[in-house]
Amino acid sequence: MDEKDRLKILHTLYKYRWLGIEFIDEVKMALPNDLESLRKVVLKCQKCDLAQTRHNVVFGEGNPNAKLMFVGEAPGENEDLTGRPFVGRAGQLLTKMIENVLEIKRSEVFIANIVKCRPPNNRVPTPQEVKECIPYLHKQIELVDPKIIVALGATSYRHLTLDKTPISKVRGKVMKFGDRYLIPTFHPSYLLRTPSKKKEAYQDLLTIKELLCEV
Ligand code: URA
Ligand code: SF4
Repeated sequence: MDEKDRLKILHTLYKYRWLGIEFIDEVKMALPNDLESLRKVVLKCQKCDLAQTRHNVVFGEGNPNAKLMFVGEAPGENEDLTGRPFVGRAGQLLTKMIENVLEIKRSEVFIANIVKCRPPNNRVPTPQEVKECIPYLHKQIELVDPKIIVALGATSYRHLTLDKTPISKVRGKVMKFGDRYLIPTFHPSYLLRTPSKKKEAYQDLLTIKELLCEV
């Protein structure tokens, strides 16, 4: 079995997880069962090539018991320099979306990414990088135990669900993710480039806000 076959099988297993069928995930099981110890492990991680070019690992931050979790793609330049998620221009927009539309503090939610180290020149992370890194995210989801996960943009949505439907077709839809809810919406970087889509993103935020009252 080569690496490609291994990736295919892993995709199938992750898809089961999306449908609510848990499997014995040895990589995830070997990780610590509290967020602070997990952070320490991830900060030292050298499992993929991105370790060679990063300045800081961006573990994620927020309320360790958040009901709502946002998942972006990968750290950008500002995040790499500070070690914090979503602190650049896209981050400022995300913060506004949370504080002005959802009307909750940014510190009340948890914010993480599919991969924890910055890909050079902000390229999309490779399948291999995602394969190495995503168990950390799955462990964060298990430990924070959010009721609602918001996938920010196509990369986040695709790697969480393994569904290749374009983000424009699925955005704003309330889906089941195991026993949680998953709502995909546009990535704030995309909204900065395409402000005409902000209207749709606003609608998605209202959907999230409504659901947040119910869970
Ligand atoms: N874009 C992301 O996807 N994540 C960040 O943390 C910053 C920008
Ligand atoms: Fe480790 Fe993830 Fe960073 Fe790769 S991107 S070195 S897997 S923490």
